[in-house]
Amino acid sequence: MAIRIKSAGEIELMRESCRLLAIVHKELEEAIRPGMTTWDIDALGEKLIRKLGCVPNFKNYQGYPASICTSVNNQVVHGIPSKERVLQEGDIISLDAGLIYRGYHSDAARTHGVGKISAEAEQLISVTRQSFFEGIKKARAGGHLHDISNAIDSYVSGFGYGIVRDLVGHGIGTALHEDPQIPNFAQKRRGPKLVPGMTLAVEPMINMGRADVEWLDDDWTVVTADGSLSAHYENTILITDGEPEILTLY
Ligand code: MF3
Ligand code: CO
Repeated sequence: MAIRIKSAGEIELMRESCRLLAIVHKELEEAIRPGMTTWDIDALGEKLIRKLGCVPNFKNYQGYPASICTSVNNQVVHGIPSKERVLQEGDIISLDAGLIYRGYHSDAARTHGVGKISAEAEQLISVTRQSFFEGIKKARAGGHLHDISNAIDSYVSGFGYGIVRDLVGHGIGTALHEDPQIPNFAQKRRGPKLVPGMTLAVEPMINMGRADVEWLDDDWTVVTADGSLSAHYENTILITDGEPEILTLY
């Protein structure tokens, strides 16, 4: 499948889809507190998405049962919201959310601390976030896709963290997952050339310990193999003639 270049009209729809998603993330961040369940977060997120006139794209995606992926502590991504999972002070939680606005998908993730968290957890979250920004310094027309991957890897490796290899970023547009795949670790080849009008979801997933992950019996929840903490940071971006536009920032 080829990488789809979006027209000016499509880019406007992507911008709006992503702007609305940024609002959802902002409200979820403000709502997080100890005592809340991950089910509560999903319910709030779905309500917000629908109130904005949009549809949650994760819900029922390949059978995923919720609108917001809630991944706590050693859970990497795709955690399933649950009434049994009560957030406690010191936890970290990755929220991955997406929506469809007039046929156009947006996708973004953030990791938040619940109340006060350890300095080590703070660093993991901030390095994961910064690795996205290091990566997208290379997200420029004329460069190559894997320049982004290599930049993320070289930044993160300096901290001794494990970069998840089993899951990658992706193109996005009229589908949640379009070509190309976007690895977060170093690549031998430079990959396809970046062209204005590409819309990409760049999403480093970083473990405090080893890179290896496992799947729980629910067939969704991805956890670190060594039980270490994991963080996730994702935005949908647009390749332009100059700097990339980060479409899902508030
Ligand atoms: N951001 C996630 C991804 O790109 C989307 C969650 S997939 C779902 O894979 F199935 F959980 F919805
Ligand atoms: Co994604």
